Amino acid sequence: MRQLLSIDDLSSDEINDILDNATRYKSDPRGRDELKDYTMTNIFMEPSTRTTLSFQKAMTVMGGRVLQLDMNFSSAKKGESLADTLRTAAVLSDIIVLRQPDVMSQLPAGVGVPVINAGDGSGEHPTQALLDLYTIREAVGRTSSLYVLFVGDNKYSRTVRSLVKLLDRFEDNRSVFIETREQLEHEIHLADVIYMTRRQKERHVDDGVYRLIMMDEGLMRKARTDAILMHPLPRNEELPESLDWDERAVYFEQVRNGVFVRMAVLAHLLGRRQT
Ligand code: NCD
Repeated sequence: MRQLLSIDDLSSDEINDILDNATRYKSDPRGRDELKDYTMTNIFMEPSTRTTLSFQKAMTVMGGRVLQLDMNFSSAKKGESLADTLRTAAVLSDIIVLRQPDVMSQLPAGVGVPVINAGDGSGEHPTQALLDLYTIREAVGRTSSLYVLFVGDNKYSRTVRSLVKLLDRFEDNRSVFIETREQLEHEIHLADVIYMTRRQKERHVDDGVYRLIMMDEGLMRKARTDAILMHPLPRNEELPESLDWDERAVYFEQVRNGVFVRMAVLAHLLGRRQT
């Protein structure tokens, strides 16, 4: 039985297969029935817009069913353990998508179905990294020899942690962690990818650690015309909406690609071949 708690859970062949299958789904986005009779349970113990919606969409497009646990009414409020919530979802469904606030390196015993980590505190977010790399592959044209600037909360962002791991699986990629605006001004012309993140305010115990760097038109003028500007969203003040019209901004394309990549991940973990 397969888990996807971390990028480490995937072999390089599996990563390439998922990206290739996502391309097939994207080029032929008709409804399918390969996950007919399968049920996915979404358990989100932290807020989510894109991840929860795109997993729901991925599962339903493939003919499957979705159970969504409403955390306002979950028995977690009555003291139920995460292990028991997962064991219950495992009885009622074939796969679980889980977001919760603590780093999780292994699953509790007795959860007999695949679990996809949709964010574990400041740990990992492997399907976000896959959709990020997919978007890079599509927009830049390759997954290797990339110069990637990480601008934002590099210490606490799980999307950054998973994407750095994923980039390390391919040859000659360079991840550069930007700490000051001066450093960004100096490096931006080298970038194939500028990957921004918001301050993870819910995870900061010490507010002094983080220094806000805001992107703006002036900085983007220094970036290459073939660079891309990414953000997993949600954004705060670091990424002004005025940049949405810059052709290099791909963050809503990341959202779109998330559905196809998650379709490929669900099919992979449930052992279904692409039809
Ligand atoms: C991210 C997350 O939850 O880690 N959002 C997402 O899934 N697209 C980014 C964030 O919360 O900052």
